[in-house]
Amino acid sequence: MKNHELQERKGRVFARGMGNMFPIYAARAVNAEIWDEEGKRYIDFAAGIAVVNTGHSHPEIVAAVKQQLDAFSHTCVMVTPYANVVELAEKITAIAPIEDARAIFLSTGAEAVENAIKIARVATGRPGVIAFSGGFHGRTNLCMGLTGKVVPYKKGFGPFTPEIYHVPFPAEYLGISAELSLAALDQLFKSDIQPDRVAAIIIEPVQGEGGFYPVPEGFLSKLRELCDKHGIILILDEIQTGYARTGRMFAVEHSGVEPDIMTLAKGIAGGFPISAVVGKAAIMNAPEPGGLGGTYAASPLGCAAGLAVLDIIEKESLCERATETGNRLVAGLRRLQAKHPELIGDVRGLGAMVAMELISSGDAGQANPALAKALTAKAAELGLILLSCGVRSNVIRILVPLTIEFKHLEEGLNILEEAFEACI
Ligand SMILES: Cc1ncc(COP(=O)(O)O)c(C=O)c1O
Repeated sequence: MKNHELQERKGRVFARGMGNMFPIYAARAVNAEIWDEEGKRYIDFAAGIAVVNTGHSHPEIVAAVKQQLDAFSHTCVMVTPYANVVELAEKITAIAPIEDARAIFLSTGAEAVENAIKIARVATGRPGVIAFSGGFHGRTNLCMGLTGKVVPYKKGFGPFTPEIYHVPFPAEYLGISAELSLAALDQLFKSDIQPDRVAAIIIEPVQGEGGFYPVPEGFLSKLRELCDKHGIILILDEIQTGYARTGRMFAVEHSGVEPDIMTLAKGIAGGFPISAVVGKAAIMNAPEPGGLGGTYAASPLGCAAGLAVLDIIEKESLCERATETGNRLVAGLRRLQAKHPELIGDVRGLGAMVAMELISSGDAGQANPALAKALTAKAAELGLILLSCGVRSNVIRILVPLTIEFKHLEEGLNILEEAFEACI
């Protein structure tokens, strides 16, 4: 079946709100390579948006899920649970940088965020939640409210839940310093909500959809101090940054800060829909039995995959590999930047979460979303799946599987360069 025929069929039966970036229909994928319905091969620099950190179709994940499938696929964790959910909770609470941690498992990232907020509100008895502009936390109603990017995530979808406040994210490239962001928080406490009415502050350690901006050094410690002072729960949304992506198991570990709660999804089960909330026992145990859950929560297939993922990350040293991969990517992008400094304003990365910021005339204030759009389309034509992001839609982000063979990494970088030259 041809890609364009499938795209036409999809257009006739699918609501347009759930679009696709490329009219490319995947037929098969192995590690960092995807083949489409027409047999064309692509290097994958997206990993299903940071999901297959362990590569497509990792044999150990496939085997673990097949074995679970032969036993049973669903009983509902709230009815008759199973051994692998207990084992996964034991392992995740042991590796989380949180003392005396407890976990729950859901299905999607948005659900993990929803539950983190539910838990924080019960634990504190307070309504307020503070998030950051440019942040992305999912597409459910509460998560849309937390998200700090209007188009396409919020436009027309309101009203959102009350008691959500935003302050600027400290994106230094955009001229927003840590001091400015903290001053905005201080101002918010004076002008909008008293701190003892705030249940939680939620932040991504590196903004994902917002543009791959890492929090400046020391910022999370400052937030930690502020949260401790006012009894506010600090939630780290590690849905995109977690699971070895940034060179540590969790990105917050770069800061040495202990969060109260972390939300996890994407990379935790190699593509099987399972997510988690992990946090301090006293907070996590606040909701009463039955208050948290979901029919498909903690799918046994996801748990089987999740256990295999943890083994692979350790056996294949994926944290170290993320750092090495990121270094190679940053070096490749910096070579391109040296040739085109007027169009590539910044190259940044934390481990294998790497991005370049496209601008015009060497002016950081002039975002170049048109180039980002043209580049991702051209790259796809030349055999590379490449994503953009950013509040200004001008950032190219690279999220390769952490298991990518370096020859494929180089091949992808070469295609990116060729596509870039063809677009300018
Ligand atoms: C930081 C962050 N939080 C939450 C989400 C929402 O996850 P999901 O799409 O699985 O609901 C995402 C998805 O991109 C994300 O990157």
